[in-house]
Amino acid sequence: MIYPLLKPFLFKADPEKAHERIMSLGRKISKHPSLLNAVRALFYLEDERLRVQVGGLSFPNPIGLAAGFDKNAEAIPLFEALGFGSVEVGTVTPRGQRGNEKPRLFRLLEDKGIINRMGFNNDGVNAMTHRISGISKNIVLGINIGKNKTTPNEDALSDYQICLTEAYGHGDYFTINISSPNTPGLRGLQELESLSPLLEGLLETREKMSKTYGVKPLWLKLAPDLSSEELEKICVLSMKLKLDALVLTNTTLARPEYLVNEQKAQAGGLSGKPVRELSNQKLKEAAGFTAGKMPLVGVGGVFHAKDVVEKLTLGASLVQVYSGMIYEGPGLIKEIKEGLLKYIMEHDFKRLDQISTKELQG
Ligand code: FNR
Repeated sequence: MIYPLLKPFLFKADPEKAHERIMSLGRKISKHPSLLNAVRALFYLEDERLRVQVGGLSFPNPIGLAAGFDKNAEAIPLFEALGFGSVEVGTVTPRGQRGNEKPRLFRLLEDKGIINRMGFNNDGVNAMTHRISGISKNIVLGINIGKNKTTPNEDALSDYQICLTEAYGHGDYFTINISSPNTPGLRGLQELESLSPLLEGLLETREKMSKTYGVKPLWLKLAPDLSSEELEKICVLSMKLKLDALVLTNTTLARPEYLVNEQKAQAGGLSGKPVRELSNQKLKEAAGFTAGKMPLVGVGGVFHAKDVVEKLTLGASLVQVYSGMIYEGPGLIKEIKEGLLKYIMEHDFKRLDQISTKELQG
């Protein structure tokens, strides 16, 4: 509607500057109830058939904003007004940090992809929680936690514990991010010798915090570049420790051969359409390894309702979107919901969450 007019201007600008402009507008709109109402009137669509229950949380629809878009929790009311079922803010680290040198964000226009090597630029967990306490929110809020760049992997647990402790009273679920390719060594935490004590330590922190705030879900976000063997081991460990969900996937270091944009050789994580197939492959494998015993969240290359249906069919209970929002604009969520409702009616379903079981049987 409006985005096709805005997009040429935004896409002419440096990608990070364009994102800053969007977030600056988002901050302003988020503070004005009348502007939020106008956004709601344009974009909001609610339908009980889209509601999904996952691990004790009730999501008005399965489409969440993926981590990294609103790193500092600055525009939650706007994303709520756009109709997201959940927003995952962060990745947040104990201390604020600037991230990597610019430029660090690249659009692969023809490929509908993005490469980023942002490196967890964020204001720090205290600034984030302070901001969250200042808003009234009516949306499922996830807080994605990480470690500072200068913290060695041996001390990573302490960073994640600081974030979880500080954020616990402010979020509805927490995602442990060990899969960003842009913090040197971070993905090493996916190896079992490191992962096992990290998760056990975080479960202890949760136990402590639950005495005040109740038990809240802990999710684990994984890279699409894990081998099947590595993924299987992580799934087995996650089930043993009773984590609440796995998020598949973060960005990829792989570069599919068909990429045409000249920025394809930039270092960093690739997202958008070019990561969809790989993300879906990992989602499918994880669904096999977890056999319905653990909820899965599908992320990577969601641009249309059919992409959501595909992820739900492969075994996801929820999906998240980042790059699709950049290419298709804020109307994407309503468009996806309309597509999902059409799908429900065409297949004689009563509710969206019937998709996975029906499709899997068929
Ligand atoms: C990301 N993503 C990300 N993920 C995360 O867990 N923490 C983060 O801070 C970020 N930051 C970030 C920045 C930028 C610019 C992009 C494009 C992506 C990864 C994101 O949440 C998602 O997992 C992937 O982008 C795949 O989904 P899409 O983009 O294909 O929908």
